[in-house]
Amino acid sequence: MKNFEGKTAFITGGASGIGFGMAQALRGEGMNVVIADISAENMADARDQVGNDDAVAFVTVDVTDRRSVADAATQTAQAFGDVHVLCNNAGIAGGGAVADPGFDDWDRAMAVNLGGAVNVVKTFVPLIRAHQSGGHVVNTSSAAGLTALPDEGGAYSTAKFAIRGLSESLRLSMAPEGIGVSCLCPGLTRTRILDAPAREDGDGKAMAAEGDPEALFNTMEGAMDPIEVGYAVVRGIRDNAPYILTHGEFYDEMKTLFGEILEAFPTDQAVPATRAAFEKGRRDMCDGLRHLPAVD
Ligand SMILES: NC(=O)c1ccc[n+]([C@@H]2O[C@H](COP(=O)([O-])OP(=O)(O)OC[C@H]3O[C@@H](n4cnc5c(N)ncnc54)[C@H](O)[C@@H]3O)[C@@H](O)[C@H]2O)c1
Repeated sequence: MKNFEGKTAFITGGASGIGFGMAQALRGEGMNVVIADISAENMADARDQVGNDDAVAFVTVDVTDRRSVADAATQTAQAFGDVHVLCNNAGIAGGGAVADPGFDDWDRAMAVNLGGAVNVVKTFVPLIRAHQSGGHVVNTSSAAGLTALPDEGGAYSTAKFAIRGLSESLRLSMAPEGIGVSCLCPGLTRTRILDAPAREDGDGKAMAAEGDPEALFNTMEGAMDPIEVGYAVVRGIRDNAPYILTHGEFYDEMKTLFGEILEAFPTDQAVPATRAAFEKGRRDMCDGLRHLPAVD
């Protein structure tokens, strides 16, 4: 999507941090922006920062509650009509380690970080498809969705890896309709995520480890300004980038990790012809979808 002017963006977790950075950057491109968030406090703060602007609307939403998401879609249509850009960004730290007993923290983290994205995609993407004039979906994963965090970061990485699968599948599915999809994987960014209650039991530390181990002790020092992530998102939408990667410090690690995956393949295997043909058919289909242009 290359033309932003006068179109509408709906951003979950839009009242703080990366979501607010996206809201500012997309508003700067002339879009109407719906800031959708669960936190009254963050909403009040965002309102103060936005000031008087008829092109920005504030909608209270809990992404874990499907009725609340449907209400948010109705309010968005009433405010601005069709939605073209959907930013699935609401997220929380915490959730605990994969091997921890007990499910409460895990379920809450999954409900927000993964279930929330599913609820919003399933509510809004049909609306984007219906107006048939293209659009773009940005799903916020994390660098912790590229390289897994151990221990307390287990639930977070599990959800963030899943956001990549959701994004890649949605991207292939929407390509024939000219709707782009990007997966955003930021590293350490200066936001409120570690201020959330989940941090009190130490979960925030695992988040901090996404960037720099030193940051465990001073979590947000040197973290990226969220507006920079917002500008990267604008460029990513314009280019219909499959991945929006903002933090260069992960490059070497990714090279090693993806190299390890490649090296794990048996390259001298005699693949049965029928199996090879099956996968060739699948690959040709996906490659075709990967090269379809998005609608401007
Ligand atoms: N800050 C980082 O270093 C970092 C790095 C990688 C990825 N991320 C991801 O970026 C996204 C935004 O986080 P942030 O760092 O800007 O944090 P933040 O806490 O500043 O903003 C997140 C916003 O989401 C809202 N939210 C939480 N639960 C919600 C719910 N159920 N329904 C609606 N809104 C809800 C919060 O109220 C908050 O305003 C998250 O998905 C996070 O996982 C953050």
